[in-house]
Amino acid sequence: MTIKPILKMGNPLLLQRSQEVIDPVAPEISQLITDLFDTMYATKGIGLSAPQIGINLRVMIFGFEKSERYPNAKPVPTTILINPTIEILTQTMQAGWEGCISVPGLRGVVSRPTKIHYQGIDEKGQPIDRIATDFHARMVQHEYDHLEGILFPQRITDMRLFGFENEVWDKIITNNIPVYDL
Ligand code: NI
Repeated sequence: MTIKPILKMGNPLLLQRSQEVIDPVAPEISQLITDLFDTMYATKGIGLSAPQIGINLRVMIFGFEKSERYPNAKPVPTTILINPTIEILTQTMQAGWEGCISVPGLRGVVSRPTKIHYQGIDEKGQPIDRIATDFHARMVQHEYDHLEGILFPQRITDMRLFGFENEVWDKIITNNIPVYDL
């Protein structure tokens, strides 16, 4: 059981484009995946990407069966996604207050496409090929951004809708935009 420290915004490793995994079944990749899960569960998160624990490889994990934070959200299968690609399938965008464990205490409104097609491989090298909508689609896009060296504040278009959680809380509850901790 290894809970790794989470890198925070400002760390240059979070701004790099991560490298493709050559061999998904290599022992160091299995170790990385174990560390990601240990760290994600310890922080009660629902998604985490390798660069957030200081490894610039294209590996991300996400999913939840039932979340206390999102009692009404449809479950997303627990997924290990390696070398992902994303194709946007709609021009419809939805706004959401995003938060990120690498940007603690801050929240901002990010608009993202509501439907995507994503592909990649799992930890056995087996293909993953899915259509995702809504929360699932947002989760994958947020984690994918980490692999590209992008943090959610870079996606905010109206910087007035960005701030410390306790300061923006009134806006969060009055404007009816959903909240997502990714
Ligand atoms: Ni994040």
